[in-house]
Amino acid sequence: MGPEPLRPGVARGDTGGSVSRYFPVALDLVDRRCLVVGGGAVAARKIRALLEAGAQVVVVAPDISPGIQHLVGDAGAQIELRRRRFEPPDLEDAFVVVTATNDPSVNALVAEQARARRVLVNAADDPANCDFILPAVVHRGDIQIAITTGGQSPALARHLRERLDRDVPREYAQLADVLGALREELRETGTRVSATAWQDAISDDALGALREGDVARVTEFIRSRLLHFGSDSMGDLPTTSSSPGKREVSSDPSPTIAEPRRDVRGGRGRIVLVGAGPGDPGLLTVAGQRAISEADVVVYDRLVNAVLLDSARADARTVYAGKSRGGAPMSQEEINQLICDEASMGNVVVRLKGGDPFVFGRGGEEALAAVQAGIPFTVIPGISAATAAPAYAGIPVTHRGLSSSFTVLTGHEDPTKPNTAVDWDVLARAGGTIVLLMGVDTLPGICQRLIAAGLAPETPAAVIQDATRESQRTVTGTVGDIAERASAARIRAPATTVIGNVVELAPILSWWGSCAEAAHETDR
Ligand SMILES: C[S@@+](CC[C@H](N)C(=O)[O-])C[C@H]1O[C@@H](n2cnc3c(N)ncnc32)[C@H](O)[C@@H]1O
Repeated sequence: MGPEPLRPGVARGDTGGSVSRYFPVALDLVDRRCLVVGGGAVAARKIRALLEAGAQVVVVAPDISPGIQHLVGDAGAQIELRRRRFEPPDLEDAFVVVTATNDPSVNALVAEQARARRVLVNAADDPANCDFILPAVVHRGDIQIAITTGGQSPALARHLRERLDRDVPREYAQLADVLGALREELRETGTRVSATAWQDAISDDALGALREGDVARVTEFIRSRLLHFGSDSMGDLPTTSSSPGKREVSSDPSPTIAEPRRDVRGGRGRIVLVGAGPGDPGLLTVAGQRAISEADVVVYDRLVNAVLLDSARADARTVYAGKSRGGAPMSQEEINQLICDEASMGNVVVRLKGGDPFVFGRGGEEALAAVQAGIPFTVIPGISAATAAPAYAGIPVTHRGLSSSFTVLTGHEDPTKPNTAVDWDVLARAGGTIVLLMGVDTLPGICQRLIAAGLAPETPAAVIQDATRESQRTVTGTVGDIAERASAARIRAPATTVIGNVVELAPILSWWGSCAEAAHETDR
């Protein structure tokens, strides 16, 4: 008789445990129709993951949370909302279905109907109604490390995810890109390389050099090792262990690794106010990204680029607190309450805000709320639109000989108010650069007020919409006509206005796309 086939629950010697009943696969969901039943926070997380995988997502729920509405705004035709209860025909053409309602009977009905149609189903927190489970994932570019405990302990999956997230160097993402490109290159030239040679070519030294940004040297090093398999020469790649001042590649020496992250009595809960920058994901700070990756809950705003949420753990909760003019899903008081409540339950809460949290971001109010609630908090500053928008339009806010100061103003300040908080007369005479945030609608009144206070109407001015994003547009002119030009160019929020002689430099220093002559609209 041959050996018994392995069955779930049967001990497997080399793993020290039994065989999991789950078979890991990685699905290609691009353009596949995936159904999500449910409109709350759990559904939002699943929807985001499916959208990122390129799926066509159909969402069925009578009530759709603001977080999902926000995703709809970003995903466009990739997502379809059906604002009603689930009906079995919703399963038509579905490749997979995820049900994440808070009603177990609905989840059970969806699972039953899906199985009747042979559509694979995942029911949140209901293993009996799951044909597949969604693992906790650590992302490193194209590399994904998926963790599942076979449904036994989501907490353990999360613990392992955090551990791996801290311990697996981020440079593996670049290493995968380098190896992928070399594989393609060698395939094209018909060069055969053994599997062992590929494995031998991967070293911690390569990771160290990638950490220092030396992609070209790493590529060359690996290429030469592949082509001269058998050589153990390390070339002149720096070795991390012997390089003074360089960090170890293999692990992050964070002292928190050995510590429990949470204390059920709430002792470890805290709030981290993180500046997300103005839109370009590359403008998030390293500290900000790390904070997001460590958070239990991320509460984010409308102007935050949703891509930044990719750094959050798969099991972290993301809450959209976006505020738009005319519609306010959450008031400032509700946000303060939410972050304090979450932190007092022991969660690490990242409050992710556009630009810098303390520049017209109401971050101070959130910090005060934390102080009042006795919750520890930290602040990770962000790159503010106040400087980033001019910079991306080629405008230095100060420049020797042109401006030696800059003032950042809110356009919400009514210049016609008798007791306005802004001293327009001083501002007009100061001779420095004026940077105006939140001032698209109020631009005509503000320009008139500055001219009335003595600012020369021919003072150069620029309005930058969607700064640092692909859709960036700049309109230039003078303080006398910029409001009209911005209106003619249909400039919309978010936009930042710069007034002052430094704007003269925009046509010369513009580097983000092209900048036409002054007084002309430019794309990007
Ligand atoms: C509520 S304030 C928040 C400012 C933010 N805390 C900061 O430091 O950038 C929002 C205003 O910032 C400006 N803003 C934010 N992102 C922008 C962007 N990508 N392009 C241009 N202006 C932007 C706009 O004036 C917008 O109305």
